Order: sequence, then C-alpha cells, then structure tokens
Amino acid sequence: MNILILGSGGRESAFAWKIAQSPKCENLFIAPGNAGTGQYGTNVNLKVTDFAGIKAFVLSNAIDMVLVGPEEPLVKGIHDFFLKDEQLKGIPVIGPQEQAAQLEGSKDFSKDFMQRNNVPTAASKTFTKDTLQEGFEYLETAGLPIVLKADGLAAGKGVLICTTLEEAKQELAEMLTEAKFGDASSKVVIEQFLTGIELSVFVMTDGNSYKILPEAKDYKRIGEGDTGLNTGGMGSVSPVPFADAAFMEKVEQKVIIPTIEGLKNEGIPYKGFIFIGLMNTNGEPWVIEYNCRMGDPETESVMPRIESDFVDLLQGVAEGNLHEKELVISNKVATTVVCVAGGYPGEYLKNKVISGIENVRGSHVFHAGTSTSGEDVITTGGRVLAITTLQDNMFNALQQATADAARIYYDGVYFRRDIGFDLL
Ligand code: AMP
Ligand code: GLY
Repeated sequence: MNILILGSGGRESAFAWKIAQSPKCENLFIAPGNAGTGQYGTNVNLKVTDFAGIKAFVLSNAIDMVLVGPEEPLVKGIHDFFLKDEQLKGIPVIGPQEQAAQLEGSKDFSKDFMQRNNVPTAASKTFTKDTLQEGFEYLETAGLPIVLKADGLAAGKGVLICTTLEEAKQELAEMLTEAKFGDASSKVVIEQFLTGIELSVFVMTDGNSYKILPEAKDYKRIGEGDTGLNTGGMGSVSPVPFADAAFMEKVEQKVIIPTIEGLKNEGIPYKGFIFIGLMNTNGEPWVIEYNCRMGDPETESVMPRIESDFVDLLQGVAEGNLHEKELVISNKVATTVVCVAGGYPGEYLKNKVISGIENVRGSHVFHAGTSTSGEDVITTGGRVLAITTLQDNMFNALQQATADAARIYYDGVYFRRDIGFDLL
C-alpha cells in the first residue's frame, strides 16, 4: 500500500516509524513531515489544510490510505472532502468526519454528547455573550475552584482554572465579550473542578467495534514537579501503573462502550482514533475531554508498545472489519522525554542547530519541531525532539530516556528530568 500521513510532529514521526515497519507498506509519504520523518518515508511539502494540494498528491501518487495526525484538518472536514469527491471517495481516510470531530472541536457538543450517553463527566453549563448575566449567577452558586473552557479549538490554551469568584467572573467576561480566545470563546463551558490524577486512553474504532490501545500518562506542565505553564506535553509514560485492570474495566464499561454505542445510536460515523482524557478520582473514571486524534507526546510511547502490524489495524478501521484484527501489546514500559526550545511555551528560540542525536544509544529519537538547513538539523518548533525508551523495567526506562535527552544540545535546550518518576 501507499500511505500518506498528514502532520509534522512527534506523533506523526511515531506513526511513520511504526508504519514503515509493516510489510504491507510499499511507499510512505509524510506531509509536511520534519527533519526526522525522511528516515521512514518521503516528505511532501504540503500543508495539512491544503485539501486541493492533498487531492492532487493523492491522485498522482496512487495513495491507498490517508492517516490524519492533527485535529485541524479533521475539524475542517478533510474526511468529508474525500467522501464528496468522485475521484477520492474510495480512498480511506483514518480520522473522523467533521461532525464527529466536533467531539474535540466543540466542548459544548462533547459535553452534550456525554450527558446524552451517560458518560461520566463533570457537571457543566454553557454560556454566550447574551447569557453572560446567567453565567455570573451560575458562578455564584458553583463551588471553587471552577473551570472555564472556551468552546472551540484554542491550541490547548482555552482552559482556565479559577480559584476565586472574582477571577472567574472577570475571565468569563473577557472570554465572552472581549474574545479572549478569539472565536473559540464565543461560547464558554463552565465546568465543575475534578480532583484526581489524569491519564490518556486511546481507542481505535471502525465505527462498530473498537480496540483499546495502550494507555499513557502525559506531563503537561513546563516545570519539574508539575509546575508552571501548560504545554502541549513534556513527556509521557505507558503503561500507567495506577490504570490497573479493575480501573481499565471501568473505563471500558462506563466510558468506551457508551461512547461507541452513543456514536452508533446517534448515526455519527467514526473511523479513527478517540483520545479520552480522563481523571481517575478515587478509582472512578471521569471524562475531561475527547480528542478526535492521537495524543502527542503519548503516541511516541504508545506506538513502541504495539507489537501487531499497525497497517493491518488501520485497514481494519478503513474496511470496517477491525473486530477480525489482532492487537498485541507489549508488557514493556515506554517512556518519552521531550526536548523543547528555550522560552517555550512562551515565545521561543528558533533556527538553533541541533547536535548530539548520534550520541543517543538506548532510546529512539522522534523528531518534532525540526527542519533541515543545508547539512544541519535545526529547531523550528516549541517541542523539538521526543526521546523514547522501551524497556522491561520502568525505572531503567525513565533513567535511560532522561540520560539520552541530556545528550542532545542546541542553544536553549530544556527538558524535564522527572518524567514518570512520580509513578514509581
Ligand atoms: P483540556 O483542554 O480540556 O484538556 O483541559 C486542559 C487541562 O485542564 C486538562 O488536562 C486538565 O489538567 C485541566 N482540566 C480540564 N477540565 C478540568 C476539570 N473539570 N477539573 C480539573 N481539571 C481540569
Ligand atoms: N498530549 C495531549 C494532546 O495531544 O493533546
């Protein structure tokens, strides 16, 4: 098969690494890819939202399957674009159509969906500019802390946890009347605060049956000890020790089955990944959010634990026979440490020459925000490289990934040395 992956981050690097190992994959393309994805396939200079350009490329290169990495093209309807096009409609797209991608694209849609389908989630209510006054009244009766969420996509920045009523009212007003997060905050979901420990659960579905991929824990804060600003993710670990069999059974019964059945009952087709952001509160799962794609940097720890042919599983999604496919998961521990650019997640340094990748011995280096400049590999994004180790023993894996991250150098390089150690 000829396969096209859309995206350019560490997630897409991990997909490309895994897919390139499949005997079913003849030619692999990554659009636009990064300085590392060329090891696994051919980079194609196309934007993930350039649907016309993607169409031309798919047709001229006899692409048999398109795997969509990030949410943006899904929320903008790339799958629907393929289905509506006479020449493209037979070419499977892995990733949901626009309507189902609203599970990530609109918090209001996803909360309603969860409530309709009895998926455990924090109590919430949605407000607009016209109902600002009701929003203030709701805040007065809701406890503290309280969570305010911009309804639309806000590049991971649209969630505010407010500890005082005054702050909550001010933020609500800024979101609704001053477009604090642009259009994304024209609606705001006010949600009860959940306590507990978070994890990410990933489901692959053809719309009927599903497979539960390895779960992972993501470390979102920039600072060690989970301090400082939120980032896209500074590291990940899989498996997650506190997600034991009893907890995962609850996740399947209370969250995954009602989600898949809900989609089916509401006539919402779904072929792709569902990323379920969960809070484990005293052993009970509560859904924080759905995403319509895999997580980053979770995918870098999930892919190495999948022993089965990943292309075979993707074919199961595309052809609707996922139930006939086998998913074998390794018992080993995978851990990922992300090297980020100086200044990230604020304004960050760019175009710094990267060295030391060749000194990494026990880990695999997945490129994320990198590019080539002549002979050099340079930094272009906030999250630059994801260093992933797979080992039998969790402590050794964590130490190895951290030690290998320290072998990377560029001006401003930073990574967390504590990824996963809280789980030991
Ligand atoms: P989201 O963009 O929905 O993933 O939210 C970003 C982060 O905010 C989550 O990863 C949580 O750490 C936190 N968060 C979101 N909703 C809640 C909630 N209801 N209670 C506690 N923390 C939350
Ligand atoms: N690591 C969280 C995400 O991909 O959204």
